[in-house]
Amino acid sequence: MTRRSVARAPAKAILLGEHFVVSGTRAVSASLGLYAYAEAEELKLWPSEIVSIELGLRVTIPGPDLSYSGPAELQPIAAVLRALRARDFDIPAFRLTIRSEIPDGAGLGSSAAASAAAALALAGLVGSDMSRDELFMVTMEGERVAHGNPSGVDPVTVVNGGVILFRKGDGVIDRHERLEGVSLVVADSGIRRSTMGPVSSVLSLLERLGSVKRHLLSAVDEIVGAAWESIRVRSFERLGMLMNINHGLLSAIGVSTPELEEIVYAARRAGALGAKLTGAGLGGSVIALAPFGSEGAVQEAMGRRARWATALYAGVQGASLISEA
Ligand code: MEV
Repeated sequence: MTRRSVARAPAKAILLGEHFVVSGTRAVSASLGLYAYAEAEELKLWPSEIVSIELGLRVTIPGPDLSYSGPAELQPIAAVLRALRARDFDIPAFRLTIRSEIPDGAGLGSSAAASAAAALALAGLVGSDMSRDELFMVTMEGERVAHGNPSGVDPVTVVNGGVILFRKGDGVIDRHERLEGVSLVVADSGIRRSTMGPVSSVLSLLERLGSVKRHLLSAVDEIVGAAWESIRVRSFERLGMLMNINHGLLSAIGVSTPELEEIVYAARRAGALGAKLTGAGLGGSVIALAPFGSEGAVQEAMGRRARWATALYAGVQGASLISEA
């Protein structure tokens, strides 16, 4: 019988702390109810094949050393393959098909989710279970290729799921299963960009700030810590206010755009407790914290200025195998 294994991994949104997290502050992130799926199927003979439905790409991998020179978009998956190989996963010839509900380049963790789902599906093909730590490390190899200098917050979130307080180097500091008592509305501006560009320009701006850098990072870390406490005690007005301040600082370091500002202000005018860009910025997505009952109005106001807007579950299960045969 042909072996087959299917895995999925969720999208993520950073609620607070993006960019600054690369330089050592804490960040809060949540897994979202949108998924990347990977299906691995055993083939009788090499070459193997990777197919990305959304990207419309198909590449072949000649032999069991799993090396190939594919298009840039699939290099993160190539890095995942190398990481599995380095960990002695004896992967047979395969066809790996990736499909995703998560738009690419929208700040919602599409690359981390595709890498995590691909790694789990391929490991599932040889009947191997991966620990969360191992899956994080393999997914991180994909992220290094996709982002250059990742803090690790995206792979940690898609692998573990939930609402996470994170620090680079420490990983998960604290975690809640889900965000309860308030809605999270996500709007995709439709403006695509890579994460690598904004991350390196923010790092160089921070270097040019001299001693101000330390104070800025310490302010962001305080804001993130206060936001985590607000989530714990369900003080959503305070959480919204902290998200707004965080957005102001992201705007100050140059990663907002007029289009994102319009979506942010539309959400606030429609009753959101807080709204901010999420992820690397310069395009991508905006999140808004909406009290129950006002999510429809917030979603509509954001949707008028975005490609799409919708309320999403924040804090779904992390990457998992969904079938194996
Ligand atoms: C990207 O989702 C989040 C950034 O902070 C980069 C990172 O933490 O790796 C911009």
